[in-house]
Amino acid sequence: MGSAPEYSLVLYADYSYIQSEIHTLCSYMNAGVKLLLFTNSERVRDTNEFLEKGYKQAKLLHIFVNEELDIHKTIQVADGVDLQQVGEISKDYHEFNFDQYRIEHAPLEENIMVKAGAGTGKTTVMIDRILFLFMKGRLDPSEIVMITFTREAARNMYKKLRKELFSRFDLTGAKEYIHWIEKLNSMRIQTIHSFAKSLLKEIGSLRGYGLNVRLRSFTMEKRRWIEEELDTYFQKELESVHGNIETIISPLKMYELIDVIYDFWEKFEQKGFTSNEILKANFGTAASGHEKMNELLETVIKKVEARFTQAKVNENSLSLSDLSREMDHIQEQYGKEAFKKLSSKISYLFVDEFQDSDDIQIRQFVTIQEAFSSKLFVVGDIKQSIYRFRGANHTAFEELTKLLNHRDVKINDQDYYLQKNYRTGKTLLNHAVLAPNSLKLE
Ligand SMILES: Nc1ncnc2c1ncn2[C@@H]1O[C@H](COP(=O)(O)OP(=O)(O)OP(=O)(O)O)[C@@H](O)[C@H]1O
Ligand SMILES: [Mg+2]
Repeated sequence: MGSAPEYSLVLYADYSYIQSEIHTLCSYMNAGVKLLLFTNSERVRDTNEFLEKGYKQAKLLHIFVNEELDIHKTIQVADGVDLQQVGEISKDYHEFNFDQYRIEHAPLEENIMVKAGAGTGKTTVMIDRILFLFMKGRLDPSEIVMITFTREAARNMYKKLRKELFSRFDLTGAKEYIHWIEKLNSMRIQTIHSFAKSLLKEIGSLRGYGLNVRLRSFTMEKRRWIEEELDTYFQKELESVHGNIETIISPLKMYELIDVIYDFWEKFEQKGFTSNEILKANFGTAASGHEKMNELLETVIKKVEARFTQAKVNENSLSLSDLSREMDHIQEQYGKEAFKKLSSKISYLFVDEFQDSDDIQIRQFVTIQEAFSSKLFVVGDIKQSIYRFRGANHTAFEELTKLLNHRDVKINDQDYYLQKNYRTGKTLLNHAVLAPNSLKLE
């Protein structure tokens, strides 16, 4: 056989070839290498050497059979180096998910964007990709950051990875797995908020923030400030005007007005405006009939922004958007290498449920990518991302590609997708099993 694979081996061969190489094949699996066998005989599944150890349960052995094929030649592909060959083979084996295989074995240096719907095997492929990075890329778990949208998802991902590593270790006893299991705790699987918090702790001192610096969004306070500033505004108005409040804010209700102001204010932050810029911003002239509303927005937003700034100073806090800005300053001041000395290395940044990221979060990902020269792997649902927040007509995917392109960083946003839906498949299968009489076999 060819040179020894480090992570996986695709073997396209007939029964007799597989039998003749059985010891080599088992020795690969015993070293933790995943074997994908493509053959034309069901008998392969009954091979004693395969059955007596739990290779299949440990997901180290995957057998695909198509009995209609004549196999005249043997093909081997180690570690995904020849994707085209595997693609050709996969055409005769519909059970094999070539889309997942390509993502898992993508070049180590590529930034990857995966578009995939619910139940298409996203989590599965992310775990496989991480194992590939461990085994083929020799990546240390501490160099991986994975952002999930909930803490629950972070815990799940961690548990699944751990389970996968343990079952492989149980079977193979390969000491590398012990190393990864031991170091799994150092892999940062976190929500963006808790990750940013720890990053701030690591780098904050460089920008003069003390150890007690905090990352806060002040969401509750922001609404309260808006309400209070609106009260003040209306009180002044009532002293000087004729008419009533309703005519100014009509047709909105008070709580709707608070929402409108809140959204408008957030837009400034999402667009990367600094506090100073907001305070000095020119709100322009309103169309006739909307002058009052324009004035109200300008007055209230500037007031609340000033309170926000003061609150952050008082509490030694930053927002996520401030953190991105601070990271930009650090780079300007100390050069691109600054972060490599300051913080633990981030070689790979994974983002799950990427479609839900807002502009501030996307900017944060790009900032991290730039600061650490990290590789990106983002996965999300394109269908759910179209009108992702408050009327924006671009997707999170497009925004990320745009920001990276501005920095001359390429991301592969075309080639990686998952189409096969495993949940639907299962549901259909269950129906068929539950109603066997409805299936007529010829
Ligand atoms: N190549 C595959 N062959 C067979 N089953 C698979 C394959 N990939 C994934 N599955 C199974 O399909 C189910 C869904 O997979 P997974 O959880 O990875 O999908 P997901 O896209 O992350 O789902 P969700 O949308 O719920 O996050 C799981 O039971 C998983 O074991
Ligand atoms: Mg999932």
